Amino acid sequence: IVLAYSGGLDTSVIIRWLKEQYGYDVAAFSADLGQGEQLEPLREKALRTGASQIVIEDLRREFLEDFCMRALAAQAVYEGKYLLSTALGRPLIAKYLVDVARMTGATAVAHGSTGKGNDQVRFDVSIMALAPELKVVAPLREWDFSGRADEIEYAQKHGIPVEATKEKPYSIDRNLWGISIECGVLEDPWAEPPNDAYLITASPEDAPGEPLCLEIGFQEGRPISLDGEEMSLVDLVPRLNELGGRHGVGRCDLVEDRLVGIKSREIYEAPGATILYKAYAELEQLVLDRETLHFKQALSDKYAQLVYFGLWFSPLREALDSFFDNIKRLVTGVVRLKLHKGNCTPTGRKSPHSLYQYRLATYDQEDAFEHKDGEAFCKLWGLPWKVIGERGRRRIKE
Ligand code: ARG
Repeated sequence: IVLAYSGGLDTSVIIRWLKEQYGYDVAAFSADLGQGEQLEPLREKALRTGASQIVIEDLRREFLEDFCMRALAAQAVYEGKYLLSTALGRPLIAKYLVDVARMTGATAVAHGSTGKGNDQVRFDVSIMALAPELKVVAPLREWDFSGRADEIEYAQKHGIPVEATKEKPYSIDRNLWGISIECGVLEDPWAEPPNDAYLITASPEDAPGEPLCLEIGFQEGRPISLDGEEMSLVDLVPRLNELGGRHGVGRCDLVEDRLVGIKSREIYEAPGATILYKAYAELEQLVLDRETLHFKQALSDKYAQLVYFGLWFSPLREALDSFFDNIKRLVTGVVRLKLHKGNCTPTGRKSPHSLYQYRLATYDQEDAFEHKDGEAFCKLWGLPWKVIGERGRRRIKE
């Protein structure tokens, strides 16, 4: 069995449990998605805890290129706030679990998600779609530890190292695209998130009084430069996380609808993604015609739901990507943004594909717009409403 392994208490205990409960030979798999932890030390830890092998992959580039960039081009946002960092990471991890399973001849994969979250769905469904023959085991859905203490006791009994047992107050998932934080005091939706819950963003009130201006360059939908300097995504995104974080950009607090039907309160930090989303939207606004722009906006929501609901490996997601890829070709240019005390405000935009025409927009002497045409335009545009007016406007409900 191949286990998605983080090196934390749960997945360490899972290795042992899978061997004991099912007699599985366990191969661990760990992916670097930019969670800011050294993964090499996991090698020894996994083997010491009972895994027979471990595969570690740096997936940061693939994560940004194939997952985050697509969400960016789709402008996918779940329930108006969440930029989907966790949701985008899961299908990528699932894809590699399947690869490692095929490489090692495993017949099953395992993950450490619980039975009431979204992540189990994303893992299970991705694996079902990619490798229907593989069995999926999620020990947290099955085992009967009655709580954390029980699990720690099991760990200690089996010589599994338990780090400083002081309960961590939050459950955190982190990658280059953002951080998801839940549990503890956050479970009271009325409680303001304490400042120590946030890991990479300053609170807006403590952020510098001086704003910071940035210029982000795009080439066919892909962010390629910061302040004129070309950068790879793997360098650019962490840099934007740092700059945005310093200025308190990219926090959000959301009571969200999980796929399994419950509402949960989670807070997020995504400074880099927030900056890129704003910049991208700004450029689209300049280069896309009105019909395409408005139609696309209606699809963003659908895309976000597909990602959130674990349907990454679905025909509709792929079809929507083809649509966004087509449009993306026009998203070339530069956007200037100002970061200040939690705000990220676009202040300028330019593109070789701009549809903005000064002579049409200006009210100065150079104005080339035919004002006279306005009258005929209004006459025809308003004609149906005039007919209704002549009939007499009737209220739907008398
Ligand atoms: N609610 C987010 C989602 O469904 C994040 C889930 C994981 N969050 C966490 N704090 N471990 O995508």
